[in-house]
Amino acid sequence: MEPSRRAFIKRSALFTAGASLLSTVSWSGSHFSANEKINVGLIGCRNQGFYVLREFLQTGGVNCLGICDIDQKILDEKAAALKKEFQQMPRLYKDFRSMLEDKDMDAVIIGTPDHWHCLQTVYACQAGKDVYVEKPLANSIGECNLMLEAARKYNRIVQVGQQQRSSPVWQGAMDYIKSGQIGKLRKVNIWANFHYGIGAEKQTDEAVPQGVDFDLWLGPAPDRGFNPTRFHGNWWHFWDYGGGLMTDWGVHLLDMALWAKDDTSEPERIMAYGKNLSFEEHSRETYDTMSVIFPKNDYVINWQHAAGHQSGPYDMPYGVEFIGDRATVVADRGNWSVKTGDAAGTAEAMSVAETYRKKSSHSDVGNHVRDFLECIKSRRTPSCSIETGRNVALYAHMANIAARTGEGSLEWRPGSQSFSGSRAANGLVMPAYRKAWRLSSV
Ligand SMILES: NC(=O)c1ccc[n+]([C@@H]2O[C@H](COP(=O)([O-])OP(=O)(O)OC[C@H]3O[C@@H](n4cnc5c(N)ncnc54)[C@H](O)[C@@H]3O)[C@@H](O)[C@H]2O)c1
Repeated sequence: MEPSRRAFIKRSALFTAGASLLSTVSWSGSHFSANEKINVGLIGCRNQGFYVLREFLQTGGVNCLGICDIDQKILDEKAAALKKEFQQMPRLYKDFRSMLEDKDMDAVIIGTPDHWHCLQTVYACQAGKDVYVEKPLANSIGECNLMLEAARKYNRIVQVGQQQRSSPVWQGAMDYIKSGQIGKLRKVNIWANFHYGIGAEKQTDEAVPQGVDFDLWLGPAPDRGFNPTRFHGNWWHFWDYGGGLMTDWGVHLLDMALWAKDDTSEPERIMAYGKNLSFEEHSRETYDTMSVIFPKNDYVINWQHAAGHQSGPYDMPYGVEFIGDRATVVADRGNWSVKTGDAAGTAEAMSVAETYRKKSSHSDVGNHVRDFLECIKSRRTPSCSIETGRNVALYAHMANIAARTGEGSLEWRPGSQSFSGSRAANGLVMPAYRKAWRLSSV
């Protein structure tokens, strides 16, 4: 540990208890020596957050100083696993605000449901921590904007958990497409058909499980009774906490279309159909069936999903089809291939494609984590910056907003961050936070 850096953070990161905002920190430079370990904490431990933390620890360059969860059972289980597997004995927290007071903590991983990402990222930035925040960046467009503002204001490194940006499979496909081998890219078809998109079977409300601070799980979302079908692992399907398959898989896969074109522009027009048409015995608000068109200047992105099924084009439950003038690339997380429409052309294209393939001995998340840790030290922009995470989240949220409002088609004005002529759509740009969690400014 380097005394001068830690001491500086200690002086500058003042934390205000309660729901009020943390005060400003100005430290932004890197003072890490090459082999110095990075001290991290985890907020939200049950599933993805803990998986990401394990990848952090597997690098050998990290200490885990704290883990935080509103569920005591999960905290205890994860603490035992960390001790056994990594000989790490972090402090345990129920309230993330207390964990952010640890001046020796350099970075936090945010693995909570989407409705928490904004507040926890903003607070972490204000406390001088770098942030690895899971995707989608946030549960609304307005929250994404606040997070971007906070990251810039406090000069924080923020890696968004869209690990496909660190994947050798997708990197190879992108290099091949951008080399012009398929001709001009003009259409990207994306599909994501998953069983889990229909939610859990309906259940009635019940008592809050022992050891769970449900009020702190709800946080900024509206107060309501406890229901297991809206809780751990099921919250995706309710607008207050998530956006269903459209945001969950949407940000991963729509991002591949934008990446192929190096398109950083916000969507300006969108057409969307979304409804619940089936599986009525399952508990959800988000749509089991959606078709969305994002028209762009010189190409078009087509999205579709049908939850409750797990099959699709090319026998792939999810995938991306990049259609160029001369050939088509079909990709998922595991592989990509080229199709030209005839056997000889395809064989020739595939032999060229081989020269673009990339490999890694780490998982995509492992690569993404390594990229983030390197960025903490170098202060360079990570492979999925907050700008990238925000931009693609706008596409996914707009699709849900067009469907939810019944507008079908919407026009977005990037200058004012609002929709043209739809009060209903503008009403969904930012959720109404519960009073105690109101974010007055970043
Ligand atoms: N990158 C990926 O491929 C990938 C995969 C799965 C999930 N995710 C994302 O990871 C996030 C978490 O998903 P999950 O599957 O782990 O959900 P989960 O419901 O399994 O786990 C969320 C955890 O957060 C905890 N939590 C909730 N509110 C909290 C608070 N205020 N403070 C501390 N802990 C709190 C819960 O108790 C739970 O342990 C989501 O944003 C999801 O979209 C990303």
